[in-house]
Formats: sequence, structure tokens, C-alpha cells
Amino acid sequence: MSADEWKQAAAEHAILHVQPGMKIGLGTGSTAAKFVDLLGQKVRAGLDIVCVPTSDATRAQAAALGIRLTTLEDDPLLDLTVDGADELDSELRLIKGGGGALLREKIVAVASSRVIIIADHTKRVETLGAFPLPVEVVPFGRGSTERLIADMASDCGCDGSIVLRRTPDGSPFVTDNGNYIMDCHFSMIEDPEALDDALKLVPGVVDCGLFLGIADIGIIAGPMGVEILTSDDDAFEPED
Ligand code: A5P
Repeated sequence: MSADEWKQAAAEHAILHVQPGMKIGLGTGSTAAKFVDLLGQKVRAGLDIVCVPTSDATRAQAAALGIRLTTLEDDPLLDLTVDGADELDSELRLIKGGGGALLREKIVAVASSRVIIIADHTKRVETLGAFPLPVEVVPFGRGSTERLIADMASDCGCDGSIVLRRTPDGSPFVTDNGNYIMDCHFSMIEDPEALDDALKLVPGVVDCGLFLGIADIGIIAGPMGVEILTSDDDAFEPED
């Protein structure tokens, strides 16, 4: 099977958790897009749900599929969010934001009663950090913010290059919220909680791609089948 088929297999498991009437957060990225496609098929077949997308790209995909959309203003509490990840460890700690949507992804996930992460097995790691950690920063004062991020991270044992994300034409990548992304090449993040706490102290940092204590279930598909990780042993049973 290819990575694409593993992503599809994970999305097919996640769809078992969807019930009529649910309010659902829709993630961003190629794996989440497979879940959105499956949801679109269910909606066409008559499933009544309403969804909050985590990016303009996902909004466009969902709208094209005829999925009814809402906002966190109208529906501040969601039943379920299904999203992908760039890395996840055995404790369901994640790095997200490879697609630049980390802030909305985190806001939507935290507003959800249950968060399911779907991924192919290449995302599963022992220690977070091989994937560069995305940090969303406001454009003002970026140089100073970068210096402070480096200092704070170094105090947490994380050193490495910090690179402003750019689009193919060389201009800074701008998030859906009008901010920049600094990709932090730390290689290993031994203490994600300490780093997360430290980065939150930098005034120009809006948020970082560490998702700690947020995911409830990980559905990871690979050559050996589907592996389920849970933050709580009782959490996995799909609802009837
Ligand atoms: C988007 O900002 C990210 O958090 C994605 O969820 C993450 O990059 C996973 O994307 P893929 O499913 O495309 O690997």
C-alpha cells in the first residue's frame, strides 16, 4: 500500500466516529482532506452534520462537497474534530502546522469534545522534532521575535536553525490569520511541555505547532494495519 492508501485507511476508521447531528471540526492537509471527502459522500447520502473548517482550503473543499458549515461564533462547542499531524509520539503529543493552519487547528481542536488524529505510520516518532516545529508569529518585530524564540528554545535544550517560511516565489508565507511561520529545525524536542511553555512567553509568538494534551485518539495506518492510540483506554469505541 502507498502512503496515500494508508491515509485513506485512517480516514475510513475515523468516519466510524461520526454520528448524525454532530458538530465537527475539519482539519487541514492531505490526510484530513480524505476524511472530508468521505464526509461529503455521507452528506450526499443524507447524513445531517454541520462543520467548522480549520483553513480556507478546507472550507473550499467542504463547501464544494455540499457540507453545511458553521463558525465557532455560532457553535462554540464541537462534538468531534478529525485532523492530520506532521508527527505524533506514543503519548499522542503532536507537531502540526506543516500546512500553516496550526492556529485555527488548535482553536478548533480545543473547542471539541473529542479529537481524532489520522495519519500514516511515517508520522509516528519516538521523539518529536525531526519535523521542523512551525511557530506562528506576528509580522511586526519578526527579527526580535526570532532571537527570543532561539534563546527560549536553547534554554529548553533545543538548538537549530529558525527559518521564515516562504512561498515558491520567495515572498513570506502568510497564514489565514495574516501572520508568518517560523520553522524551527530542532531535530529533537526532549521536553515538549517546557518548550511550549517557554514559547508562549515570547510576545510576538501567536502559537506553536506543539499540540500537547489535545488529541484523544490517534488512528495510524501502515503496513501492519491500523494502530489505535488513545489518551484514555475507554475512549476508542466508536459510538453506535
Ligand atoms: C496543517 O497545518 C497541518 O497541521 C496538517 O494537519 C499536517 O501538516 C498534516 O498534513 P498531511 O496530512 O498533508 O501530512
